[in-house]
Amino acid sequence: MSERLAKIRELLDAHEQGHLLSGWDQLDESSRADLLDQLQLLPWDTIDVVRESIVHRVDSNPPPQDLQPPVVCDPTPEEAAAMAERGIAAIKAGRVAAFTVAGGQGTRLGWNGPKGTYPATPVSGKPLFAIFAEQILAAQRRYGVTIPWYIMTSPVNDAATRAFFLDNKCFGLQRSNIMMFPQGTMPSFDANTGMLMLSDPGRVAENPDGHGGALTAMARSGALADMQARGITIISAFQVDNPLVQVIDECFIGLHESPDHSSGEVSSKMVAKVDPTEPVGVFCQVDGRTRVVEYSDLSEELAVASEVDGALRFAAANIAIHLYSVEFVASLTDPGADELPWHRARKKSSWWDPATGSIIDPAEPNVVKLERFIFDVLPRARRSAILQTHRACEFAPIKNASGQDSAASSQQIQSDLYGGWLKKQGVDLPWDEAGHVAASIEIGPLTAMRSEDLAGVELPGHVDQGGSLLL
Ligand code: UD1
Repeated sequence: MSERLAKIRELLDAHEQGHLLSGWDQLDESSRADLLDQLQLLPWDTIDVVRESIVHRVDSNPPPQDLQPPVVCDPTPEEAAAMAERGIAAIKAGRVAAFTVAGGQGTRLGWNGPKGTYPATPVSGKPLFAIFAEQILAAQRRYGVTIPWYIMTSPVNDAATRAFFLDNKCFGLQRSNIMMFPQGTMPSFDANTGMLMLSDPGRVAENPDGHGGALTAMARSGALADMQARGITIISAFQVDNPLVQVIDECFIGLHESPDHSSGEVSSKMVAKVDPTEPVGVFCQVDGRTRVVEYSDLSEELAVASEVDGALRFAAANIAIHLYSVEFVASLTDPGADELPWHRARKKSSWWDPATGSIIDPAEPNVVKLERFIFDVLPRARRSAILQTHRACEFAPIKNASGQDSAASSQQIQSDLYGGWLKKQGVDLPWDEAGHVAASIEIGPLTAMRSEDLAGVELPGHVDQGGSLLL
């Protein structure tokens, strides 16, 4: 141990981070070994660069200049039908897999567990993971194929996520067709000094490396190789927070595979932004390449910029639904490929103060966290398609405890969507003045994936005001 300790001490001194051994005397043998392992594996070159830039207040990656609105595809019903045909052929050929980024916890929702375990639907309170699983099951049955599901967890929620799936018998899916793997981590930096910090005497403070960490995590975990071995060519990727996502969308897959629209490397979906301040990334074009500029990086001037007809200039909201080709992902994870950029965010995080020997809970943001964003792969594609879609049908994220993007707002959108399907089938429903269904309506993916699927289903004649219906 002492030889190893001496080597690590030398390493820390070379990077001016010797304070990370301040808690050494308090540690038992196994915690000491764990700490040395952690210190040895830290990305020291990146750490030095980031520390310098924090000390010198250098902006890590300023938003690109000369942003133009993106090219968006809004197919006619005939075009959409042709795309769907093409998409169905890819699904039936067993070339499509689902992929969820689920590294987040439900903390912001007051939920003590992985975000994917949060009860999301308006009547049965079905968890997010169950909704996605049932959609996969429904698509498998419809097309007579296996659709493997890859789920990126984080070190914080990996064990709880695995246990949740086992407790729920994988929601009817075969366990061998679900693969979970944790994303990587990055050390957190003191926002003033750029120094690394300890979360307790034996542990350097770390945070998940952002959903952009999915690329390396897919390669490192063997998920990418598993896809290749199964003949998967298209990854249907989405965030864990949106219960209305169409996990397997025939039309979108067909667009992705249409050479007139896309190089087939990465495609995305958009909805119109509700207002300039909505916290969503926006699609743009820079030098002829599509990219997403995150809301925190979009200047107020550009956020409110409008066209001559008064419409928002940057109105194409990123709803975090993408299709990637496996080949494209493999090329981005090649050892020689350029890595995705790091984005910095100032956050509040508790830490262990060697001076007092106690844990400090800061009142203000005190650390800089580094994250990679998956959508930074977009400009690497030769031609990246964006499909226009509708918020009311595909986007009802649950991010906040109340108000916009909360469980309540999401459940209203879900009830409105399913109410619309029932109305088409002649069911009489209560509507309020704002056009919302005044009842809780839930239609599970195994009952119907779209309005037409309700044709053979036994439906009630009407639903009472304030009532609820679960199909
Ligand atoms: C995200 C998008 C934003 C988009 C919006 C749509 C980013 C940076 N921004 O914003 O452009 O308009 O969704 O809803 O993505 N996650 C991980 N590991 C991580 C970090 C996040 O798996 O290290 C997962 C979370 O579980 C969640 C998703 O990524 O499912 C979104 O992350 P979050 O940081 O909440 O982004 P938003 O602010 O919601």
